[in-house]
Amino acid sequence: MTPVGTPPSPPTEPLSPPADPLLSVRDLTMTFPGRRSRSAPVRAVDSVSFDVAAGETLGLVGESGCGKSTTGRMIVRLLEPTGGSVTYDGRDISHLAQRELRPLRREIQMVFQDPHSSLNPRQTVARIISDPLLVQGSAAVDARRRAVELMELVGLIPEHIDRYPHEFSGGQAQRIGIARSLATSPRLVVADEPVSALDVSVQAQIVNLMERLQRELGLAYLFIAHDLSVVKRVCDRVAVMYLGRIVEIGPKERVYTAPAHPYTRALLSAVPLPDPVAERGRERITLLGDPPSPAAPPPGCTFHPRCAKAQEICRSEAPTLSVATPGEPRQVACHFPEAA
Ligand SMILES: Nc1ncnc2c1ncn2[C@@H]1O[C@H](COP(=O)(O)OP(=O)(O)OP(=O)(O)O)[C@@H](O)[C@H]1O
Ligand code: SF4
Ligand SMILES: [Mg+2]
Repeated sequence: MTPVGTPPSPPTEPLSPPADPLLSVRDLTMTFPGRRSRSAPVRAVDSVSFDVAAGETLGLVGESGCGKSTTGRMIVRLLEPTGGSVTYDGRDISHLAQRELRPLRREIQMVFQDPHSSLNPRQTVARIISDPLLVQGSAAVDARRRAVELMELVGLIPEHIDRYPHEFSGGQAQRIGIARSLATSPRLVVADEPVSALDVSVQAQIVNLMERLQRELGLAYLFIAHDLSVVKRVCDRVAVMYLGRIVEIGPKERVYTAPAHPYTRALLSAVPLPDPVAERGRERITLLGDPPSPAAPPPGCTFHPRCAKAQEICRSEAPTLSVATPGEPRQVACHFPEAA
């Protein structure tokens, strides 16, 4: 069944995937039923494919509502995909039952955007951090000892272990969320806008912490954010999403210095440059209108109503994600990608 206006994207095969990836996502799709009985289904994520290698950070960026969180939630299996697959360490986990998922929950963890609302206000930090271990069957005394270690690791004062979340600032609360995510020694952390709710000065501290933990523990991150400057700092590769699909994916250096998709160019042109002279002289690309609803996506290239480069073919034919410049590990979904 094809429940929404455009046909599903053709399957895509990422070019030069990391050898032996830790995570492989292929044609991942999530179609939600309409919120009201007669409203159209919402294809929030549409045939998304990418890999993440052990120890690597893939950034996932795009405007609000483009499907970033839904993608992350399918990878940690808070949501079951309606199409495609999630393969972790060589095993297809897309449709595992809750019982089968339990050992996997040690390996794949999630950090959420709003630290305070993601922590139970009625639980102490000791309980919050040790909860994933207790769920996995650890003894209470061992779990508490590990919680102390984790508090030290993320820069919290272990003596505060019996305090409640409201006694901590936003940055400290996010450190608690990160400590909780590390309790079971995961190899992959899906961080969904981990710094978006924090003050700018605190954002840098949390980003530094995440980078240090990655170096020390060899973590792989799927780092979701709408702030392109934060993603530029942390990621090795970046994927740009628009209306449920990846429109450009590749090494950070290529995507940031020579964006090939008109949407990536527009997003990047809105990021302020540190050099005031460069900032004054730069070209700004204004996106026309708001993103369309994923319940009624435009035909052809779903970006065409907002694209200054759109031509006749863009209104009828969806571009496939493919190599823009022969030989380079970057893919773009556009009939007329910008020459590198
Ligand atoms: N449970 C649900 N039922 C119906 N629609 C949903 C549901 N969850 C998300 N959606 C819709 O799916 C689309 C993608 O949502 P998602 O939260 O993944 O976007 P996002 O890129 O994370 O946005 P933001 O930057 O605002 O966090 C949106 O149109 C949203 O309204
Ligand atoms: S396919 Fe056409 S409408 Fe879509 S981004 Fe490329 S030029 Fe713009
Ligand atoms: Mg989100």
